[in-house]
Parts: sequence; C-alpha cells; structure tokens
Amino acid sequence: MLEVRYLGHSAVWLSDGESTMVIDPFLTGNPKGALSVDELQTDWVVVTHAHGDHWGDSVALSKKGATLVSSPEITGHSQNLGAPQTLGMNTGGTYKFKGGWLKWFPAWHTSSFPDGTYGGNPMGVLIELGGKRIYHAGDTALFSDLNLVGEYDLDLALVPIGDHFTMGPDDALKALEWLKPKQVVPIHYNTFAPIVQDGVAFVERAARLGIGGKALESGQSLSL
Ligand code: NI
Ligand code: MN
Repeated sequence: MLEVRYLGHSAVWLSDGESTMVIDPFLTGNPKGALSVDELQTDWVVVTHAHGDHWGDSVALSKKGATLVSSPEITGHSQNLGAPQTLGMNTGGTYKFKGGWLKWFPAWHTSSFPDGTYGGNPMGVLIELGGKRIYHAGDTALFSDLNLVGEYDLDLALVPIGDHFTMGPDDALKALEWLKPKQVVPIHYNTFAPIVQDGVAFVERAARLGIGGKALESGQSLSL
C-alpha cells in the first residue's frame, strides 16, 4: 500500500507506512503549498532538478534528518549550503532503500539554481515503494524515450500539464500513451498565472485512454 499526498505544484509526499519520501519539496513560497517545512518530517527528499520550484526546501529538510537524493550537482551545491545528508546519483542509476528503490531517467528541460549555479541535467524519477511503482516526470517536454519508462508497469504517473515551461495537456496525453500507467495525477499547473490549466478536464481525457486517476487538490491524498 502506498499513500500519495499532493503538496501543490510538483511536490508529492509518499508513504508505505514505514518510509516517507517527498519529491520536489517546494513548500516555502508555494502559493498552493499544503505544508510548511516545520510540519513536514521525511526520511527522503528526491529532487528532479535545481529550479527553485522543485529543489525548494531540500536543504532545510535535510537539516531535519532527511537524506537528499538527486544529481551530484544538486547534492553538491546543497552540501555547500549546509545539507548534512545527501546521495548524489545520475541518469540510469538505481538505488535500493528499505521498502523500495528508485531509478533516474532523463527529462527535456533545463536546470540551474535560483542563484544561477549550474544544476546538472534535469531528470525524471521512477520509484517503487509499498509494492507500487510511480513515475514523477519532473519538468519535461514531450519526448519519445518516455516509451522506455512505459515498460515498467507503472501504477501511477505524475505528469506536468501546465504548458509554458513544460508539456501542456495535449502533449501530456501523448506522454500517457507511452507511459501506460494505471492512474495519472496531473502536476505543475495552476500555481502561477502562465500555467493555468483544467486538471479535471485532463483527467477526463485520460479516462478515455483507459487511464484512471484524479486531479488532486493540494493537500489531498490517494491510496494505491
Ligand atoms: Ni523547472
Ligand atoms: Mn518547474
């Protein structure tokens, strides 16, 4: 069993009842943020790229005991800023942890820190936890190598639909044809003016492809 809680924008909290993980913890300054750093304790922080709306509160959460897993550029810069526990990986790499594993894939986007420091290549991440597999696509354009991720029997795909900085709804639907997940939760929309989209309409279009899912409001959960 896996609980998936949407924290707004691209931030997602996962728990199998033992291990907890947050992907792209943009909490402080997130107009749709469901939790503050003070309210969040987690074992793992997983970051797809260095942009402030993804890397976000990673250093603060590491200081609270979480291990930050990301590219070497992101873990290195975070260490310089005081993150005590980090694990640097790169595209293609798999890491096994108690209760599951994660594996990094490419994403077509850019990656630099808010201060301009180079952030390495942006990535997507496949996570197995609680016996369920989810894919967080990060910020990406549509690209056909998502077909490869579709070979992993995904229970859930978290895909950006905001357009402007990432895929929009039409491209995200094409991505779902390639990812072939059982369910989808749209992310990276309605946070800022340029990325306003209709998440409910997107999920209805996905349903016509035979893919379930829900447009979660920030703070809402679903169980897999
Ligand atoms: Ni980005
Ligand atoms: Mn972003």
